[in-house]
Amino acid sequence: MPRVVPANPAAIAEAAQLLRAGSLVAFPTETVYGLAAIATSDAAVEALYRAKGRPAHNPLIVHVATAADAWRIGRADARARALAAAFWPGPLTLVLPRRPEMAIADRATAGLATIAIRVPAHPIAQALLQAVRLPVAAPSANPSGRLSPTTAEHVARELGPDVALVLDGGACPVGLESTVVDLSDPDRATLLRPGGIPAERLRLLLPEPMTQAAGGEPARPSSPGQLASHYAPRLPLRLDASTPGPGEALLAFGPDVPNGALVTLNLSPTADPDEAAHNLFTMLRALDSSGATRIAVMPIPAHGLGAAIRDRLARAAAPRS
Ligand code: TXA
Ligand code: MG
Repeated sequence: MPRVVPANPAAIAEAAQLLRAGSLVAFPTETVYGLAAIATSDAAVEALYRAKGRPAHNPLIVHVATAADAWRIGRADARARALAAAFWPGPLTLVLPRRPEMAIADRATAGLATIAIRVPAHPIAQALLQAVRLPVAAPSANPSGRLSPTTAEHVARELGPDVALVLDGGACPVGLESTVVDLSDPDRATLLRPGGIPAERLRLLLPEPMTQAAGGEPARPSSPGQLASHYAPRLPLRLDASTPGPGEALLAFGPDVPNGALVTLNLSPTADPDEAAHNLFTMLRALDSSGATRIAVMPIPAHGLGAAIRDRLARAAAPRS
């Protein structure tokens, strides 16, 4: 198990040093815990892929402290600047043309001509990035394909000793990953992954319609949001369930909860999508180890963060390969 320490200033300074030396460090963001490697080192990024068991063709998000830092590694147009001004720091990732002159490791972008960039808002993430003073590649800190971690304990339980340090900053406030928008085509904005900023809020600031990337399972997905199975617990899921069947655990939503489940957890008794997002991965983990044979999930409306919740649940329910 990796070492877990409270994210005080001394621990953040140690984490920054470890990162600069090429080690892996897990840290909290407002979305989920990230597993960080310095983005300028091919060796550090390779160790990161290995620790997660992540396919090498799946590129990483590069995290920086400010939008000014972002524009040094990706080429911004008016749309990128408008979205950044409105939502950075925050749970938004922009895919932009990569500036080849910058020293980002090719492995971090899986050799693509584009780069995914995010400026996180969490104070510990900000403090870490400011201490490192280099761009940091950070996917969610879970084994590839599994549920994303929203507490330090989730990270410590599922990743091995090749992670040098886990900074414990408590539970992540948003609870699911950033929204990923591809702006690399000047004539078209594409939603690659619904997430912490609802797509309807982004659309208000974009000059052209934003299309959603097609689902399915392309041979080389440009986003794991496009893989059929991802964010998966061990148990099978049954979506849009109105009543639980025998042996099922129930992931409930809203005030009216049917009886009869082996165990029930309610994402939000008041039907608040933000509260439901915050609870989603923690409750899925708890139900996954409840002794049930399957997890039944009540319907969740697609407004606000509901769209991202429905996306994660659909991936979690998809056939496993
Ligand atoms: O909230 C988050 O985004 C978290 C925290 C730690 O910041 N990170 C995260 O990273 O979710 P990860 O690696 O689990 O997801 C990265 C997403 C994937 O869907 C990946 O395919 C996509 O970003 N991505 C990265 N670079 C890309 C690129 N150049 N073009 C298209 N998609 C890209
Ligand atoms: Mg992930």
